[in-house]
Amino acid sequence: MYKILEKREIAMRNTWYKVHAPHVARKVQPGQFVIVRAFKNGERIPLTPVMWDREEGWIVLIVFTRGKTTARMAAELREGDGILNIAGPLGNPVEMKKFGKILAIGAYTGIVEVYPIAKAWQELGNDVTTLHVTFEPMVVLKDEMERAVGRHILETVPIDMTKSFPENMKNVTKRLTEKARELLEKEEWDLVFMVGPSGDQRAVFEVVKEFGVPMKADLHPIMVDGTGMCGACRVTVGGEVKFACIDGPEFDAYKVDWDVLISRSGYYTDMEMMAMQEYMK
Ligand code: FES
Repeated sequence: MYKILEKREIAMRNTWYKVHAPHVARKVQPGQFVIVRAFKNGERIPLTPVMWDREEGWIVLIVFTRGKTTARMAAELREGDGILNIAGPLGNPVEMKKFGKILAIGAYTGIVEVYPIAKAWQELGNDVTTLHVTFEPMVVLKDEMERAVGRHILETVPIDMTKSFPENMKNVTKRLTEKARELLEKEEWDLVFMVGPSGDQRAVFEVVKEFGVPMKADLHPIMVDGTGMCGACRVTVGGEVKFACIDGPEFDAYKVDWDVLISRSGYYTDMEMMAMQEYMK
């Protein structure tokens, strides 16, 4: 069991867990993730350690409530309770070197994965600008990001309650691509990095491509074991089959087959919705 040292809701549908996990805290590097199984017989979910203390042995996970498991975690886990398993750190750390001027983009909760990477790149001497685009009540890590990087840009979109969630998400995508275009037009960049839903990653990539700036994307296919055994996280990159958990999760955006990634990401959406509705009854 991994003891929850702190738990609080930090924004709408975003919960902060500080968890005692010394084996992860000792080794984790920016870009890596863990697979969490919170409950007996529960599903495994990939999450990113956002912060950690190697000596005190804790990590921070910020969990977006998007399905049954994350809803159960938010509703049922308390400070002092334990998380059943935390496996990791898994995946490859991001490349740590001097790129120069970096635009690191997080859509929605993607910003929690951007945070440790952008912070480490800035500490290494890069000039890092972060862009966070999300719904107004879902802003996280604003102060932390402002302290960690050269410039943090926050763009929020109101939620229109008269419209469906997918309709509202289109407004976020629009703001994201418009702001990315504006920054690319006004300034010279050496690298763009992005974490967020695959559809948004592709939308931003289509803009970045016009400017010919190198782009890396942290991919989020469905993951189960996180160790290359189950094949769930299969992606096509540069015409080859790769497993995001062991070959990534970061890939060259110019080589990703976005059509395959996006169609595979939607496989279990209906089942996730049904499980969530069943739980909410
Ligand atoms: Fe199973 Fe990557 S999550 S192979």
